[in-house]
Amino acid sequence: MTSLTIEPLTPGIGAEIPNLDLSEQLTDSVMKELEQALLDWKVLFFRDQTIDVEDQKRVARWFGELDIHPTSAPGAEHAELIRIAEDEKLRAHNDIWHSDVTFKASPPMGSILRALEMPPVGGDTMFADMYAAYEGLDDEIKVKIDNATALHVWPPGWVDIVMKWQNMDRKEFDHRFPNPEHPVVRTHPQTGRRSLFVNAAFTRQIIGMEKSESDELLTFLYIQATVPEYQCRFRWRKNSVAFWDNRCTQHYALADFYPQKRTVERITICGDKPV
Ligand code: SIN
Repeated sequence: MTSLTIEPLTPGIGAEIPNLDLSEQLTDSVMKELEQALLDWKVLFFRDQTIDVEDQKRVARWFGELDIHPTSAPGAEHAELIRIAEDEKLRAHNDIWHSDVTFKASPPMGSILRALEMPPVGGDTMFADMYAAYEGLDDEIKVKIDNATALHVWPPGWVDIVMKWQNMDRKEFDHRFPNPEHPVVRTHPQTGRRSLFVNAAFTRQIIGMEKSESDELLTFLYIQATVPEYQCRFRWRKNSVAFWDNRCTQHYALADFYPQKRTVERITICGDKPV
């Protein structure tokens, strides 16, 4: 028997769940339904959730260990929590298609984002179904990328933060946090489906390919996330929550609301090494 109501936003990606209160202690069977809904719809949305950080962590923990972002401040009360508080002076630069933290050897499986403060209009987030992006490619391109790997790199600003807070030089940083190579097409560990796993924010080069050829191919692959038929768009309100599967989606936070304020908090769940 299913208890969750699922209201799809599009035929392929995104569903709102109107009848779940994330502040409650949810049973294992409800959590399993939630997991299945996430696997089916890739990103789930919840409205009017008066939850706190402990509720957000509890839901996330059912799915795995919590990820601590490398730039998290040492000694922070909630090291797993990423607060993105934006206004005209403080821009987050998440207006680029990406999956979270793919510069780690094992990028997150998913993220749960909660809206604390939203502009009256604007600041929506778009999500793209990267299974659909892969499945829509011509066979000629699939042959080129099916067994390819690509280099993902740390954003330079975040390298500086980690070196400062962990008091290390660049040599030690590179030793401890080497830039990983991931498959260009990964297989989802739970659904077995293949998805395109390169993104404009963190991927830099297809391994073993001339730089110019790699740049051309990557540009073409990045554009797949921008195909409207692969997307859904979420209009936030205060206390809205989004939960995305980072293994088969990308997202883009619209930077169209300045000088209004927008504050969200993210809990990120550890994932496995992409294969
Ligand atoms: C993120 O990129 O993790 C944040 C997305 C958003 O602020 O909507």
